[in-house]
Order: sequence, then C-alpha cells, then structure tokens
Amino acid sequence: MGIDIDAIVDELTLDEKIRCIHGAVDPAGKATGYLPGVDHVDIPPLALVDGPLGIRANGERATAFPASVALAASWRPPLARRFGRALARETAAYGQDVILAPGVNIVRTPQGGRNFEYYSEDPHLTKRTAVATIDGIESEDVAATVKHYVANNQETNRYEVSAEVSERALREIYLPAFRAAVEEADVTSVMTAYNRVNGIPMSDHEYLVSDVLKDEWGFDGFVVSDWWGTRSTVEAARAGLDVEMPGIRVEEFVPGEVDVEDLPEAMPPLPDVPALFGDPLREAVESGELDEAVIDNKVKRVLRSMASIGCFDEQPEGELDTPAHRELARDIATEGAVLLQNNGTLPLGDVDSLAVIGPNADTAKLGGGGSSEVSPFVQTSPVEGLAVRDVNVTFERGVPPVTESRLFSNAADEDVPETSIDDAADAAAEADCAVVVVQDDAAEFEDREDLTLLGQQDDLVEAVAEVADRTIVVLRTSGPVTMPWLDLVDAVLETWYAGQADGEALADLLFGDAEPGGRLPITFGCAADDYPTSDDAAFPGVDDEARYDEGIFVGYRYFDEHGIIPKFPFGHGLSYTSFAYGQPSVTRSEDGLAVAVPVENTGDRHGKAVVQVYAQKTAAPLSTPERELVGFEVTSLDEGEQTSLTVSVNRSDFKYYDEGSGWKVATGKNSLFVGRSSRDIVAKVNVSIAEGR
Ligand code: GLC
Repeated sequence: MGIDIDAIVDELTLDEKIRCIHGAVDPAGKATGYLPGVDHVDIPPLALVDGPLGIRANGERATAFPASVALAASWRPPLARRFGRALARETAAYGQDVILAPGVNIVRTPQGGRNFEYYSEDPHLTKRTAVATIDGIESEDVAATVKHYVANNQETNRYEVSAEVSERALREIYLPAFRAAVEEADVTSVMTAYNRVNGIPMSDHEYLVSDVLKDEWGFDGFVVSDWWGTRSTVEAARAGLDVEMPGIRVEEFVPGEVDVEDLPEAMPPLPDVPALFGDPLREAVESGELDEAVIDNKVKRVLRSMASIGCFDEQPEGELDTPAHRELARDIATEGAVLLQNNGTLPLGDVDSLAVIGPNADTAKLGGGGSSEVSPFVQTSPVEGLAVRDVNVTFERGVPPVTESRLFSNAADEDVPETSIDDAADAAAEADCAVVVVQDDAAEFEDREDLTLLGQQDDLVEAVAEVADRTIVVLRTSGPVTMPWLDLVDAVLETWYAGQADGEALADLLFGDAEPGGRLPITFGCAADDYPTSDDAAFPGVDDEARYDEGIFVGYRYFDEHGIIPKFPFGHGLSYTSFAYGQPSVTRSEDGLAVAVPVENTGDRHGKAVVQVYAQKTAAPLSTPERELVGFEVTSLDEGEQTSLTVSVNRSDFKYYDEGSGWKVATGKNSLFVGRSSRDIVAKVNVSIAEGR
C-alpha cells in the first residue's frame, strides 16, 4: 500500500514528531527499544530487539545460535543468509520489527570482550558474512541494524575512548563492512558506536554519519544511537543521528529484566534527562536553534524504513524454536568449528570409553555476556551430546567451573563443587580417549585480561595429556588463546561459543558424522604481544585515546608485515580428508578477473575445501600488505572427486585509499595468491590491472 510519508509528517505536531525519534517504555515489556507510534495518523509502534546470537526479549526463550565468530568461521555466506532469515523469523515471532544485529566490528585486539559477537579481523570476510546475514534478515520483512558504527573495537573504556585512526585505515579496514551493508544489502538501520573517532563521539560525528554514510554511500534508512550512547541534542541532530535509544531511564529499561544494582560499573555516563531527543530537542526547535525541517527529515527516514519492512501492513508471524532452527544452530556449530591440529586421532573410530573432562563440560557454551545473551528452549552440553552415543562416558571437572559472565540471564549461583585434577587424570587414564573441554569468558563491558585460559585449565590439559592414551582438546573460546600444552595433545578443535547445539555438534564432529568445516577468521598468535595492540597506547589507550598506529596492518596483515609467525594463521583449518590444488588459471571477466582453481579430494572421505585468494597490490605507490583476502569459494567433494572452483576478483579489489586523492586502483603489475590459508599458499599468479574504468 503506498504510504504518503510527507502527508503523514505534515499532520504531526512537533511533539508527535519527537515521539517518533526517541525511545519509550514498551508496554509489552519485551522490546529492547521502542517507538510508540502516533495513532491519529496510523503510525504503528516500532519494536527493536537484541541480538546477534538470537532473540533476547526480556527473558523469553529463543533459539540460541552459535556466536557470530563461528558463523564467519564457516566461510559460507549462504549459511549466513539462512541464519539471517531464521533470526528474523524469531524476531517477528515476538512481535518485534527490528533486530539489533549483526555486529560487524573488526577484531582488532585478540582479547576483545565482544569478539565472539563480531566476525573477523579481515574486512572482506566480514563484509561477505554481514551482507548475507542482512540479506537474510531483511528478506523476512524485518529490519537489520548493522552495528556499531564505527571503530568500536574494544570494551575497555568504551564510552570515552577515542579511536585515533587514519582515514586510510578507516576506509580499507573499519568501514568496508558498513559500506557493503548499505550498498549491497540495503540495510535499514545503522547503530552508532559508543566510542569517539578522532575525538568526536560517533553519535555527533557529522563526517562519518552524514557525509560518508548518508551522502557518499546513499544510506536512506535511520541511524540509531547505542543505548544511552547519545552524547548531545543539537550536535547529534545536526550530525545525522536520527533516533535516540532507549530514551528512558535505566530504571524503566525493560522492567524486571535488569536490576540496576546488578549493572556493571561500566555503564554509560547516563544523560541528566531521560531523552536528549525528548524535551531538549523540542526546546531547541522552539527556540529556533534547530530548524524543524531537520526533525522532519529524521521522522521521514523512520517512517520510510517502517514502510520498507511492511509495518503499515500485515506483520509477519515469524516462528520460534522450530526443528529447522534447531538443525540450523547445529549446522552452524559444525560448519564453524575449526580443526586446528590433528595427528589422525579424529574422527574417532571405535572407542568404548571416553573421559569427558572440563570445568564446564556439563553445560553448553551458549555465548558471551551482555546484550547478546539468549535463553534457549533446549541445549546440550558436551557431556550430554557424547553420552547419548554408543560409548561409555565418564565426566570429571578437574578444576572449578569457569565464570560465565552474564548481564541478563544470571546463571544460578551454585556451590563450587569439589574438583580434583588427579581425579580427572585418573579418569583419563582409564578411558580409550580423553576429551578436555576448556573455555574463556568474554563479555560486553570488559575485555579479557590476556589470552591465557582461566583458572588452572592449562594444568588440567597437561595432567590429562600425560596419562591419557589420546587427548583431544576442545576450545570453547571467543578468539585466540595460548596453548602451552599443544605439543602434548593429539588434536585441538576450536568450537567457539557453539550455542544450544554445543554437545550435539561436538558429538557429530568427534565421531565424524560431520567434519569441522571452519577456517580461522582471526589469527591465532602465540601471545598477546604478537598483535599490534600489545602496548597501552594502542590498547586500551592512554588518556582516553587508543592509537590505531598500525593503520591497515591489522590481524594477519600485521603478522605478515612484521614477519611474526602465528601459531595458527588466518584461514587455517584442517579437514578430515585432504585436497590437492592444481595450477590456477586467470581469465578476464566483465568487471575483473576469474581465478579458476582445480581442486581434488585426495583423501578417503567427503570433505569441504575453502579456496582462498589473496592479492598483493605491488603496483600501488603506498605500503600495502603482503596479502589481502579478495575472494574465496567453498566446495564439498566426495573421495576422489575433482572440480574447478572459480573465484571472482573484482577490479575494485585492487583499490587502495590515498589520503590525498581518495580511492585509486593499483594499475600495473600485481600478484594473486591462492591458498588454504593466508600462509599456506599453493600458487602465485602475476596479474596486470590496466588503467581505465
Ligand atoms: C548495548 C550494546 C548494543 C545493544 C544495545 C541494546 O549496550 O552495545 O549492541 O544492541 O546496547 O541492548
């Protein structure tokens, strides 16, 4: 039905316009953010809800999907699209219109508290995963909110820290996923970050919000602040912020879900008034300080966005916790699991007994702490997932349970059980194989202290490895961890935060019903010092400034530039079979190059290959990374099967950002590398990029 937005806005009073652009209490008590609508012109309410791992609607249950990093680790955009659609259906099932997802911030520091909620250190993998997820969400008439715009790469001091970052690094590393969300996925909403960029709060950042996002990229949806992340009234309104959330006091925020006393100290500096876009905005217009046309534009963006997702028509019913969603949660968990090391122990053959060891192995690793928390209908722990198999399972914690930081779904405070590393070692010695499940604890509001496993988990792994016939370590982490025991164990499987299907997926993976389909989206270095964020000035910053002096050299780009050998490189992941790559051939296509790579499954079982193509822009007159991911393709092949995978590389993939003159193409001789990872390169091809369009 054609909605005449201009006519509607003409009928609104100033107060009614302001009601449309700052949050209010949701009478149903489910929404994370709520715009109440205006009855006399039939503007319905707009309900926004968290989050990237599943729906958190004031304690209601929903499917707890694996963490975003696991989805990125699958290197499967079609799977991300399926996830986006399922997330949107569960959003609609709770009568919500907007999902506050995906989070697409670049993983800059390995101990980042929200790395599990994000995708990767690499902008190409991030944007491919983000675009597919957003496509999926918006295809179900639900709005996606891509977040947190921009350079929100740490939790420490997140409301005050200023990311001191060059324009080139912004353009080549931190902005691409947001740009693709707008230009390729037509995302409906963008959430501004809490942090400042080059000294300016993101909610007040006219250059990044209006000049770049709206004018340069043509974003026509609405820009919403993070919760209590609006820093001003007139500056923010002029800068291009369209909607302030939550627009209410903390005490009113989703009553009953959050006990103000329980909130972490690191809450935002709350405004003196419930809403900076409430009375102060009306007063600014009435005093003439702000032109009412500025408000009209914001209201029109909100109403156009609402019309684009059918808010003025019949709402989608959605669906919740369906068998398909449960299967999808399990698929993402297996497709995103990364087999880091394997001496042939996996997949398990005939075993009669397994010792499952680990402080939290009897609980599923649903996710991290903070706004992304989800309470599932069902969940399986590693112990439960393995115990239903035809094998005798014993369980020993070995060490006390690892804290699970939570903001909304407080885990019951249970007494700390008696634990003994010796008992765990004894159980391991008795069994055919030991499966040691270890984990970290990541959460919003705080970054991890360092990359070591918490408590005595490293001691536990070493004690088990000393006596067990075979030792498999399962990492349930948000990112890289140090592994002092690596040479003592037979296999290491990274399953990230695998969500509700944790135990089922682990059993599928260990027994070979599924193979670990993941490839690392984040470089696993040997220590935190290997990364560009190892000094305080870079992270967490000094005097509220974090210096991004590494520029574009983030993640593997940094390791390559500085000749640092990672423990496991970006793109790494073993299969249960093996693949041979033939010599690639490059042909020119309509808008770039087609890199055809022969691939053969040379092993004895079905498996997945992830062919990665990296560029080195040697023709660029600036310092450029040795390798930058510019394309990838995935295939699954049966034993002995061969195929040729074609990876498309666009001319725009050879662009670099010159801070004086903007985007340029590295015309001339460049190189392409075909690899199994950023370091396992199987072929190099020289390519010339001509002048011209
Ligand atoms: C949080 C997060 C954001 C979330 C919002 C609403 O502080 O930064 O990702 O969507 O507030 O909970």
